[in-house]
Amino acid sequence: MKGERTGPPPWWHSAVIYQIYPRSFADSESGSGKGVGDLEGIRRHLDHLVWLGVDAIWLSPFYRSPMADFGYDVSDHCDVDPLFGSLADFDRLLADAHARGLRVIVDWVANHTSDRHPWFLDARSSATSAHRRWYVWRDPAPGGGPPNNWRAAFGKDVPAWTFDEGSAQYYLHLFLAEQPDVNWTERAVVEAMHGVVSFWLDRGVDGFRADAVHAIGKDPALPDDPPERAGLPRSSTNDDPSTHGLLREVRRLLDRYPGDRVIVGEVYLLDTAKVATYYGDGDELHLAFNFPPLYTPWEVDAWRQRLDEVERHIVPVGWPTWVLSNHDNPRPRTRYGSEARARAAAVLLLGLRGTPFLYAGDELGLEDALVEPAQAHDPGGRDGCRAPLPWTAGPDHGWHADPWLPWPPDPQRRNVETLRADPSSILHLYRRLLTARRASPALVGGTMEVLAPAPGVLAWSRAEGADTRVVAVNFTGAEASVDVGGGHWIVEVSSDGLEEGRAWSGRLGPDVAVVLCPT
Ligand code: GLC
Repeated sequence: MKGERTGPPPWWHSAVIYQIYPRSFADSESGSGKGVGDLEGIRRHLDHLVWLGVDAIWLSPFYRSPMADFGYDVSDHCDVDPLFGSLADFDRLLADAHARGLRVIVDWVANHTSDRHPWFLDARSSATSAHRRWYVWRDPAPGGGPPNNWRAAFGKDVPAWTFDEGSAQYYLHLFLAEQPDVNWTERAVVEAMHGVVSFWLDRGVDGFRADAVHAIGKDPALPDDPPERAGLPRSSTNDDPSTHGLLREVRRLLDRYPGDRVIVGEVYLLDTAKVATYYGDGDELHLAFNFPPLYTPWEVDAWRQRLDEVERHIVPVGWPTWVLSNHDNPRPRTRYGSEARARAAAVLLLGLRGTPFLYAGDELGLEDALVEPAQAHDPGGRDGCRAPLPWTAGPDHGWHADPWLPWPPDPQRRNVETLRADPSSILHLYRRLLTARRASPALVGGTMEVLAPAPGVLAWSRAEGADTRVVAVNFTGAEASVDVGGGHWIVEVSSDGLEEGRAWSGRLGPDVAVVLCPT
């Protein structure tokens, strides 16, 4: 690989990255009073994240936005929306995070802007405006109607094109009509987007999570999707070769900065072999989200296959990532159906080889909120996992105004205050896992070998020099006798909290996962 380096691996190899959805994390008394979280709210809770043991935070967008897609429709990439605070608040948050040893990465929404962005307002103003070519405009199809059959994300069978009466042309949007796609074949767009990246790098961020970044390059012919893909959102299939050159340029820009700035791309192609291509020759994305595991049911054979795909496709080209949760999908506790499984999933996630991403609230074992149609906000139906984090047991749960979405179930018990006071809680399980991980070179960066210990159980060994661990996950609801090979082991972390520090009995309880350490 061209990007191969000598010396110690970069920080993001060994980091656990914690995603914060600013609207739902925490508000401050100086905030908007609208029940929406803010940057100062995040800053006030940094000590909690240090206590938990994560290494970095990723902030979903806090930029100026009309909020059609809750911040993923950006109208000014280089300013903070007043709902979340100010640039001064951001600087304070960044400085305080760094002072605590926490890295900060921010979202970079590169595929589209808001339809209220000054670029698009100008583009739309006339077919000859200065910014017209910054977006993707086409005449109607010969018989009338959209230029091709591409479908937008969200909603059923929504065209990815909206007609602009004023100029009698359609503009392309892979997401909402309020999120027109920018035209990356236009050099001025490339430069403007690089300007955004530099703006935040100069401010001191440690890197970016690049939104829908596989979609920025488009087939210039804009051909119809073939019948087998017609009807699927184009944002989940767009995979044009031109994107790779664009990513190499962004990568070169990042690499000019000191301090291992990272770019992790949201490559929303549900095919690990395709995701792998976005690492390039070690010269594109440092990390790419690989979503097939997130969509895999809690089932041992399916999971073994996911691990195998990562081994086969990602490992030869780059460092893997593991994601079980984010602001776009039902939480693990909701998907897998029980806290026991959510706990086992935490062991799985933090025991695999690669950089794990945690979504704020999973450490509390939160379930998605039940959002009645009258309370719904998101056109994509993703409100449930975006419910506010309950910090305290009291009726306001640590918030200064009624939050914008209903609480997740059971907030008087499932809140930071109550779970921190209970050593048997899932929150403490996460903390023990993060502590164990940090202390073990094998868990952080070691090799990984999948074992076949028992039906319904997935296990693997990790090794780095003399340091070794075994992770075993029981996907079944029955106790299993597990053979992890020779040696004597003690239970370092167990998802049910039982037997920790004791000799490993070789039996794994129903829905239980363990980290084993040699005696
Ligand atoms: C990404 C984000 C999602 C957003 C979309 C459009 O998939 O994760 O929340 O709606 O991009 O920006």
